[in-house]
Amino acid sequence: MENNQYKELAIQILMEDAALTEAFLDTMYRDGSRCDGHLYESERYSLLAGGKRVRPALVLEFCRLFGGNVEDAIPFAAAVEMIHTSSLIHDDLPCMDDDDLRRGRPTNHKVYGEAVALLAGDGMIMDAFGVVAGNTRVSAGIRAEAVRLLSLASGSFGMVKGQIIDMFGETAALTEDELLTLHNNKTGALIRVSAQLGCLAAGCSVGSDEMVAAEGYANRIGLVFQMIDDILDVTSTPEEMGKSVGGDAAHHKNTFLSFHTIAETEVMADSMTKEAMALLQAYDHADRLCALAAFLAVRKR
Ligand code: IPE
Ligand code: IPE
Ligand code: MG
Ligand code: MG
Ligand code: MG
Repeated sequence: MENNQYKELAIQILMEDAALTEAFLDTMYRDGSRCDGHLYESERYSLLAGGKRVRPALVLEFCRLFGGNVEDAIPFAAAVEMIHTSSLIHDDLPCMDDDDLRRGRPTNHKVYGEAVALLAGDGMIMDAFGVVAGNTRVSAGIRAEAVRLLSLASGSFGMVKGQIIDMFGETAALTEDELLTLHNNKTGALIRVSAQLGCLAAGCSVGSDEMVAAEGYANRIGLVFQMIDDILDVTSTPEEMGKSVGGDAAHHKNTFLSFHTIAETEVMADSMTKEAMALLQAYDHADRLCALAAFLAVRKR
């Protein structure tokens, strides 16, 4: 595929999948729901603030790739985005990265205060598991497996583990192996589980050839995603990114740039992206996920 073609396709995929996910998310927290007014305003503020929706797109695209009905995967896509958004609200708190700008607007705690931001994040994490368990479009067995995988990826054995390595790494230089563990958990875990939930919605079980290929793809694009995040923190602007930049150096974070130049990191991102694409070659219609991987390796925000 030519450069422009994959970019166009990837942008179209992200838009289509975001629309499906956002229609679901829009029903979650709103006037008239049983949720408290302060809470749902704060949850809506961050959740419907125009993130790139990469993780939901992975859920929906893996479901499509393996012949599933995309409607069956929408609650899973929404749930991963809820957990991701909660992780961003918490990541921005003064006790964490202390950031003021997210998704092009002031961070949640800047608008609603730290206590509400904390609770909005907590609420969304726990609600996400109810959304997965309540997805009666798929079998009870698939729902239970999805809850298990999402829990593993989000909590003390996944994203939260990555966040604590990141945090304590601010006062101790990590080895490159430790950095990979950090990134495979902090960012990789939610990207991997997005692929896994898409496979589950399509009826592929854990350990199947499809699931293993999807996990291989996701492990690679997860690392690439954080490589680009680390590069953009140095090279981009708050206007372009919609979030603060420069914080990694200011907080002495361990990043790919602690070990490699920007050019070396870009070469690694490119070759890992090609490996990810190669893992899906055996499947018809893999062009959509290949376009997405190629686009994410050169993203500007
Ligand atoms: C930001 O994630 C945090 C990382 C894991 C690098 P995204 O870059 O996907 O943020 P949104 O969802 O588009 O705001
Ligand atoms: C945050 O990583 C990843 C999670 C929220 C789990 P970063 O701290 O690098 O993300 P940004 O750069 O603030 O988006
Ligand atoms: Mg952080
Ligand atoms: Mg941060
Ligand atoms: Mg970052």
